[in-house]
Amino acid sequence: MASFKMIINGKRIGAKESFVSLNPANEKPIAIFPKGTADDVKAAIGAAEEAYEKWSRVPPPARAQILLRAAQILRREKQSLGRLVTMEMGKVLAEGLGDVQEAIDIFEYMAGEGRRLFGHTTTSELPDKLAMTVRAPVGVMGLITPWNFPMAIPAWKLAPCIVCGNAAVFKPASDTPLCALRIVEILERAGLPPGVVNLVTGPGGSVGSEIVKNKGIRGISFTGSRDVGEFVVKNAGIKKVGLELGGKNGIIVMDDADLRLALDGVIWGAFGTTGQRCTAASRVIVHSGVKEKFERMLLESMAKLRLGDGLKKADVGPLINKAAAEKVHGYVEVGMEEGARLASGGHPAKVNGKGFFYQPTLFTDVATDMRIAQEEIFGPVLCLIEAASLDHAIDAMNSVTYGLSSSIYTKDIRSAMVAVRAIEAGLVYVNSSTIGSEVHLPFGGVKQTGNGAREGGIEGINEFSETKTVYIDYSGKLQKAQIDTG
Ligand code: UN1
Repeated sequence: MASFKMIINGKRIGAKESFVSLNPANEKPIAIFPKGTADDVKAAIGAAEEAYEKWSRVPPPARAQILLRAAQILRREKQSLGRLVTMEMGKVLAEGLGDVQEAIDIFEYMAGEGRRLFGHTTTSELPDKLAMTVRAPVGVMGLITPWNFPMAIPAWKLAPCIVCGNAAVFKPASDTPLCALRIVEILERAGLPPGVVNLVTGPGGSVGSEIVKNKGIRGISFTGSRDVGEFVVKNAGIKKVGLELGGKNGIIVMDDADLRLALDGVIWGAFGTTGQRCTAASRVIVHSGVKEKFERMLLESMAKLRLGDGLKKADVGPLINKAAAEKVHGYVEVGMEEGARLASGGHPAKVNGKGFFYQPTLFTDVATDMRIAQEEIFGPVLCLIEAASLDHAIDAMNSVTYGLSSSIYTKDIRSAMVAVRAIEAGLVYVNSSTIGSEVHLPFGGVKQTGNGAREGGIEGINEFSETKTVYIDYSGKLQKAQIDTG
């Protein structure tokens, strides 16, 4: 089996201990990676600090050239990288390829930022004085990424991080280290100087925690669970912190909706990526007038979903690992104890005797205060909640502590616009599923999903840069703001 190393200052670094990355569809090992330590993080921070001196002074259009070259390599190698995503993470191949495409898109988009990175100019209250803002890098940043988008999410962070002139210590999830390594190698091949991005693999408890706490790190960009997000907030000290945490996203299906369209959106939202997206639709809030009919349609459609290895003919791949399968099943048991009705699924499954599969599961007659309706399950479990009106549906939508994605299916413009206004979420879709954000628009959530940071789009630059305010006084004398003007 192939064995890989960490990348610190461009050098390949091993560790005393190691861990294995598995293919969740057949439980076969894919690669061995070093279990890095806090000392490796410290070495990586040292390398990043040194590289930062030069990198932060490279003109942004030149930094952007590297992103463009990386995008070209990703494009050329999309097929094999997409297969790698499927092998290491488990999502079906079309989605594995989509993951790589999202990485290509963000590299290309952020390469464009090399020629923008706009600040603004404005007036001054004093004569012969110019006032403006410019974008400055943050410094050495810690990037901590999850396994569910093993190429796309690292790319969301690496692209703006690099174009803004930062250096980084990058710790990927231990379930998908090979995808992360490939991205860093591609950046090297595209000409990124050593030390600008340092890859440290290993556990959150040692590697992640050192990144969070170390004072050499000026900014952290973290995507993952709310619990770890809270750990980051409590332990980071005074750093710039961007968080993308969980979701308990809902789709409202009104009685006037195109039910076939809504059905496609709900199936894709709930069972795409085996429900392992922070934007997954884990609740469907259905108007009483169509509840029974829509439930029947859902069950028919779910019965056709094929579980299996994402490289073969399958609609739903495995969960990421054994612990995930146990967690999902634990929630199914909770749902039954709480009195929700299990309408379909509810069991772990194997394909050819292997894999961390779980049957697509539907709970119906779910009350909004049940744990299965409140907590992020991160698996193929959909909760159907009935609502008597638009107002009830919106109340149900907003009854959770999260606020990432949401959707409403309706043909009535008024219902759509009221939902857009009243839903508490960072993303609202109308007549479309909860998943499918595009890289040139901001992505992020409200409430316990995040701390106000947005990734992607022009706002994605804010997380990876500081605003510097510049006053240039060319009057040749001391001019006092507020005092000379009063
Ligand atoms: C995530 O679920 O962690 O819109 C990110 C989407 C994807 C990104 C999801 N483009 O679902």
